[in-house]
Amino acid sequence: MEIIIQPDSGTASALAAKIVARIIKDNPDAVIGFPTGATPLEFYRNLVRMHREEGLDFSRTTTFNLDEFVGLPPDHSGSYHVYMDKHLFGQVNVGRDRIHIPDGLAADIPASCRRYEEEIRTAGGIDVQILGIGVDGHIGFNEPTSSLGSRTRIKTLTRQTRRENAAEFGGEDNVPYHVLTMGIGTILDSRLILLLAFGAKKAPIVAQTVEGPVTALIPASALQHHPRTILILDEEAAGELAKADYYRYVYEHKPDWQKY
Ligand code: GLP
Repeated sequence: MEIIIQPDSGTASALAAKIVARIIKDNPDAVIGFPTGATPLEFYRNLVRMHREEGLDFSRTTTFNLDEFVGLPPDHSGSYHVYMDKHLFGQVNVGRDRIHIPDGLAADIPASCRRYEEEIRTAGGIDVQILGIGVDGHIGFNEPTSSLGSRTRIKTLTRQTRRENAAEFGGEDNVPYHVLTMGIGTILDSRLILLLAFGAKKAPIVAQTVEGPVTALIPASALQHHPRTILILDEEAAGELAKADYYRYVYEHKPDWQKY
């Protein structure tokens, strides 16, 4: 894992956007996996700005979102369809037919999850998957004890995650129990993974993810097995990393050809 510690979430988000923009410029047909949550909002604002001011072109990119709630109407304010449309898809020139988000309204959920996996394969796999992380270590909605080899499927949210999402739904009672999410195996198939984590609240789970054992109790720890994962953190989220000085030292001494 490569750990990049930035002074604040603004510089961290700008760096993540720069890396993704570079990938799109190098390969206009790039396949990109997108997350939701509060963490990537500034990253999305950067991509939108780059599209408007620098002509960053999404017209040939294909996108796959990590997850979606089960049973929400497509226009529900808590749905990730609405989130993505508001923060990215409605503001850049990505083709509507190239956007993929798990279908939380599918009549046959297992079939629709199999189809999602098939669509990722048909697109040639995910070139870069952006991730946030839950305070319990979930990536996508792979809650603790998710199989580290799991594929896209239905999951039941923990009480804690439903509580974390309460604001979007006007109270915890309204948060769906079920979600569809790419599995950990699906995520690990991505060629590059960028995980963003900001704020002191994420510091303990970031430390466990990077420096603890690989365990299904901390789903993000599976990323230790991935050959190209970059964590982009602000100072606060890096606050409990035992080897933070080493990660800074590595970043400062990157060979020129490896710099972002
Ligand atoms: C939700 C999403 C995750 C996200 C997590 C953290 O559970 N499904 O993909 O990483 O929230 O959210 P936040 O970035 O708001 O802390």
